[in-house]
Amino acid sequence: MTEPGSPRVLPGSDRAAVAEAAALVRAGRLVAFPTETVYGLGANALDATAVARIFAAKERPSFDPLIVHLADAAELRQHVLPGDADDPRVADLAGRFWPGPLTLVLRKLDHIPGIVTAGLPTVGLRVPDHPVARALIRAAGVPIAAPSANRFGQVSPTRAAHVVRALGDRVSLVLDGGACRVGVESTVVLLAEGRALLLRPGGVPAEAIEAVIGPLAHPGDDEPGAAALAPGRAGGHYAPGARVEIVDPEDPAARDRLRAGPGERLGLLAASAAGAAAARSVGGPFAASVTLAPDGDPVAVAAGLFDALHDLDAAGLDRIVAQPVPPIGLGRAVMDRLRRAELGRAGPGGAPSYSDPADA
Ligand code: TXA
Ligand code: MG
Repeated sequence: MTEPGSPRVLPGSDRAAVAEAAALVRAGRLVAFPTETVYGLGANALDATAVARIFAAKERPSFDPLIVHLADAAELRQHVLPGDADDPRVADLAGRFWPGPLTLVLRKLDHIPGIVTAGLPTVGLRVPDHPVARALIRAAGVPIAAPSANRFGQVSPTRAAHVVRALGDRVSLVLDGGACRVGVESTVVLLAEGRALLLRPGGVPAEAIEAVIGPLAHPGDDEPGAAALAPGRAGGHYAPGARVEIVDPEDPAARDRLRAGPGERLGLLAASAAGAAAARSVGGPFAASVTLAPDGDPVAVAAGLFDALHDLDAAGLDRIVAQPVPPIGLGRAVMDRLRRAELGRAGPGGAPSYSDPADA
């Protein structure tokens, strides 16, 4: 039985369900679907009213642009300036990483509504590496604009149940594709006028991109102009209900922060078994704990990160101590998300604020 307030959830492997979802997209409604990174909240990217419903459902500020999802790399040139489509770096990156967790930001053509790109002259495009996502885009016959299917500022969903919990019947239908394989969002790269900038670390390691097109510039969040290049990247995000603190269990100076205060429900998010053991030997008690990978492999840590934050959130904790990982390969995306989770609850009142914009 579907309770009032719950969306319908159908298996993404069911062709009739995908056809129904595609018809809803064409009718201007919102559909959540699995990708290899996280679940997306999709609408027809060519329909400004439908896209406006995404911002309303997520309570997302309108300055934060959406990624447009394509079924096939060949569709890219329908949506961007010929000069950008012909940039050899585009073919090289699309050929190497699409379908996959890479978003390319290029100068858009006029038919992409301004609400999709938050008024920017550029649009983020990607071909997701998930059969359900691509079947949905193909069946809809339109590109699909989709942010992660969470409320603004909260942890991104890696399972259909996370979408249901976050959005309820603000979404018409959820296609269930099980757990997301990569677990963190796509890497966002801006290629324009000869520049190559890493706007967001994600599922494709920056090193792998640099191996194809050479060095990427990394606009730091604090640099002047960085916020304009990468709107939605300036503040806290990925915040669970509990306060998150990044604490290295091997650091003798951090021991106090690994101990629960009187009456405090403390959680442990360990990247490796060694980290978990170190934290337990000097800290605790831990009301809940998750170890993401026995050996701390950053690919496995990334894959389980949001899942673990959702699970720890459900344990009703006051504070979560999270073990850092080396910012190499997927570890860079993991540290980016942990730092934003830390920022998200750092301020008074604990909620991400609209004046300190966050991507959502
Ligand atoms: O893996 C992903 O990318 C997931 C799945 C659903 O595809 N989507 C996702 O979307 O993470 P979202 O809305 O949560 O993040 C989109 C971010 C924006 O906040 C912004 O940082 C960047 O992508 N972005 C999108 N379009 C841009 C543009 N034109 N210029 C600069 N940054 C852009
Ligand atoms: Mg998001």
